[in-house]
Amino acid sequence: MDGFKALKISPKVYWVGAVDWGVRDFHGYSTSRGTTYNAYLILADKVTLVDTVKPAFFGEMMARIKSVVDPSKVEIIVSNHSELDHSGSLPAAISALKPEKVYASKMGQLALKNHFHWNAPVEAVADGGSLDLGNDKLVFYESRMLHWPDSMVSLLAGDNVLFSNDIFGMHLASYERFADELSPEVLEQEAAKYYANIITPYSHLVLQFLSKVKALGLNPAVIACDHGPVWRKDIGRLADWYGKWAKRDPQGKVVVLYDTMWGSTERLANSLAEGAHSAGARVKVLPLHSSHRSDAATELLDAGALAVGSPTLNQNIFPTVADAMTYIKGLKFKNLIGASFGSYGWSGDSVKQLSALLKEMQVPETAALACQYVPSEDVAAQAFSIGVGLAQKLKG
Ligand code: FEO
Repeated sequence: MDGFKALKISPKVYWVGAVDWGVRDFHGYSTSRGTTYNAYLILADKVTLVDTVKPAFFGEMMARIKSVVDPSKVEIIVSNHSELDHSGSLPAAISALKPEKVYASKMGQLALKNHFHWNAPVEAVADGGSLDLGNDKLVFYESRMLHWPDSMVSLLAGDNVLFSNDIFGMHLASYERFADELSPEVLEQEAAKYYANIITPYSHLVLQFLSKVKALGLNPAVIACDHGPVWRKDIGRLADWYGKWAKRDPQGKVVVLYDTMWGSTERLANSLAEGAHSAGARVKVLPLHSSHRSDAATELLDAGALAVGSPTLNQNIFPTVADAMTYIKGLKFKNLIGASFGSYGWSGDSVKQLSALLKEMQVPETAALACQYVPSEDVAAQAFSIGVGLAQKLKG
């Protein structure tokens, strides 16, 4: 017996998800605290499952469902989002539960078809549409591009539970199912990491989503997201965080990313960082041989400047720097200023390539410093000055 049990989160809703203690890579995002795939069972007159779990955890979800209801009683499945951490078990769930209906957004209907190449009768629901569950009802709101085209959220009106899918989620495995049972510092760190790595490119849509929630007068008592804890207290904190991060109004923080071959680019990085610190900036230095790209992204969430350094290797940017910068470019951080630096032997391409990359990212470059072989005291002083300049520019 595995002992998996459902957990009640509101009068009619049970958490029936799965805890993935071991995952450390989530499509390129380092999940050092693991994660959860949250599925929810609504024990209304029409028993309804909201979302499923990653395929490897199907058995765990089924065991939790069975702990509170005969699975044959499940009449409806709602798929808020087709990404496989939530829909991966959907085909198996349909086979096992034989629901009368499966619902998704219009884009979700198409996305599920393109994932599973099936003829399953998935019915599309409209933005603002509702579904009568007998003694309660679900109302659906599209949340397109938060963070996929098909994404939607569902509100169980009577219990006032918002199934927010990826929005407000975080990668955090725990036995504590509610946010108020966990450390506030850990919650903010993991929510910020999730926002930085998943939501950042869609920040303008976050502001629209928050406005829509306000305009509709929604004031959920419970936020049942699809990763990490369920929120039943301090829900305003989530909206405050999202509002703050979406607005991208960074204060005086400089992030220095670099890698090095023989210590020269590292010396430039350290001199630049010292300069920025001496001029009053908060500074984070992430050597990319020992820092993960997703931690670099998290540090950029509240940063105003990105200084990036790379040696030239075979006429190119060093691979770890190219990796991190490709990832960060995709996240489209707004309101950054930048600088590039690096050591080279003879061709000196890396700094030119970094400058071009910053331009593509629409990050105005304040300075570029290429140093042949090992920095002299003068060159180290130039790097220091670049750091001072970035800090001063951030102060306005
Ligand atoms: Fe948690 Fe977009 O899937």
